[in-house]
Amino acid sequence: MQIFKEKDALKKHIKALKNEKKSIGFVPTMGALHEGHLSLIKQAISACDKVVVSIFVNPTQFDNPSDLEKYPRTLDQDVAKINEVDRDVLIFSPPASEIYGDQIISEEFSFDGLEHQMEGRFRKGHFNGVGTIVKKLFEMVEPDKAFFGEKDYQQLQIIKKLVEKQNLKVEIVGCPIHREINGLARSSRNERLSPEARQKASFIYSILQQVKEDFGTKSATEINTWVSQEFESYPGLELEYFEIANADTLTSIRDIENNIKYRAFIAAYSGEIRLIDNIALN
Ligand code: PAF
Repeated sequence: MQIFKEKDALKKHIKALKNEKKSIGFVPTMGALHEGHLSLIKQAISACDKVVVSIFVNPTQFDNPSDLEKYPRTLDQDVAKINEVDRDVLIFSPPASEIYGDQIISEEFSFDGLEHQMEGRFRKGHFNGVGTIVKKLFEMVEPDKAFFGEKDYQQLQIIKKLVEKQNLKVEIVGCPIHREINGLARSSRNERLSPEARQKASFIYSILQQVKEDFGTKSATEINTWVSQEFESYPGLELEYFEIANADTLTSIRDIENNIKYRAFIAAYSGEIRLIDNIALN
């Protein structure tokens, strides 16, 4: 297991691998690794000769300073978990100065409107921060394939758009959502929930499953109303948004059209912890 802190050392190592014609798989993370991350790493291992996992809590994508401060930092446990999967994985865990120099700021991007939907409305500047770090990491790692979870489905679409617009030579692979036994989508934030809150948060997935069942027989307006009412009468979770959206453009729908893929999205708070989830509807 090799852990790189400096980008130049990592780049040198990757250059040597590329000279040997090895394909590079990349899994960018912010650490606090869980089964969802490990499944991305396993998928990368099965598709590429060498896998790089980055562990970096990216300051520019946090709109809320307290969320950044409280984000779990568990490097030793993360390394141990990766080791259990495969001792050959390269870990890149740089300090912020290695990535940003002395100016921790985001580049401004246009993602053709994807950035203004859902998360973009509630987390100002978030996707500029994600675009900035992912672009920088891609430049450092030069992966052939990069793996992202569908839990952050809007992020996945935005990264595909980043690659398209910036002409980057990397294939983006979207991977299915990993869930806890009760259905709650795996997230590093789940660790901050009490056992009771964690159990209650499984409500989010049960609502999404019901939405999937009703999709096609009820109108989007009826489903929207039903979801709002369900959350209002459920103590312990506060709905921030529910949307049924076009899975490609992420625009919200009122009327269901044929030949379009739809997904339902939820963001909700359990106390101060923000949880998101989504489901394919057709
Ligand atoms: O999904 C995440 O954990 C982060 O947004 C990412 C892609 C690692 C960028 O910091």
